[in-house]
Amino acid sequence: MLFLELNHAKCKTYLLASETARKAALIDPLKERIDRYLAVLAYHGYRLEKIIDTHTHADHRSGAAELSDLTGAPVVMHRRAPSPHVGIHVGDGDSLALGDERLRVLHTPGHTPDSISIVADGRVFTGDCLLIHGTGRADFAGGDAGAQYDAITGKLFALPDATIVLPAHDYRGHTQSTIGDEKRSNPRVTGRSREGYIELMKNLGLPLPEGIQEALQPNQSEVDAAQMKFPTLSQLNGVRQLSPSELAARMKGPNPPVLIDVRERDEFTGELGHIAGAILIPLRELTERAGELEPHRGRDLVAICRVGVRSTTAAAILTGLGFEQVWNLKGGMLDWSDARMPIEH
Ligand SMILES: [Fe+2]
Repeated sequence: MLFLELNHAKCKTYLLASETARKAALIDPLKERIDRYLAVLAYHGYRLEKIIDTHTHADHRSGAAELSDLTGAPVVMHRRAPSPHVGIHVGDGDSLALGDERLRVLHTPGHTPDSISIVADGRVFTGDCLLIHGTGRADFAGGDAGAQYDAITGKLFALPDATIVLPAHDYRGHTQSTIGDEKRSNPRVTGRSREGYIELMKNLGLPLPEGIQEALQPNQSEVDAAQMKFPTLSQLNGVRQLSPSELAARMKGPNPPVLIDVRERDEFTGELGHIAGAILIPLRELTERAGELEPHRGRDLVAICRVGVRSTTAAAILTGLGFEQVWNLKGGMLDWSDARMPIEH
């Protein structure tokens, strides 16, 4: 299998290719380097088969959706990924074909809920779960240091010691490591209990990356800042959340809420379906179409999407437009359907 690192910078993009089938996968492509990736693929004569984002990135714009648009190759992400443009949703233990090669998926959450690692040909692409002599931060929305410790010690450290570790980032000039090296001498994990790790990660005191909302919001929603004014972090943090069972109870109550589904049209009628009676207003159209909700002013509104991330943005926007009783469906249609609540297609 051909293997290349394409950026030679702090953000890593990897190319994997089956040399017999002339088929390639890109892992974590950057938006600003798409031309370079297409040139490399053309130079080697590989057809792009899969575009894999190891997680929803907060520090740079992903090039996955645009590359998919240009090449027709599907974007592969974990089923918890909020983006509307994922062609193949994967879960722990799934396997992806690349010509005659197989890529194995491990769900390794903690940095984000949608973090995956990819095992292929003696290598493991760890995203921002396990870094070389470090680990990815676990303090963003949805981060979970305990889950990250479990993923590293239970799943990644179960791989053969000789497996080469290839993270999504390296800030300190490290080039290579193996699972064996990390087991022996990862300064955050080696010799530390789960509780000790949670405590350590809680007290890192890292500043938020510069421009986090400018990268994160478009990566989550595939809506960019030119199309929409995104809410601030404190507006997002102020959004009230409802679990699927809480929403189901309110829907049976005397004042059932108005449901606003902010996914794309193909998701509304897709695999996860939608809740009966929900009004479809894709997030990108919400600001200009908010007038359609005027007749419901004064009623309770609940914003809904795939995993509850885009709808949190929607709920904050509606609150900013003066709607007072706004909630978000926590976990979105994914948790709703996992809870076996009724859906329509
Ligand atoms: Fe990350």
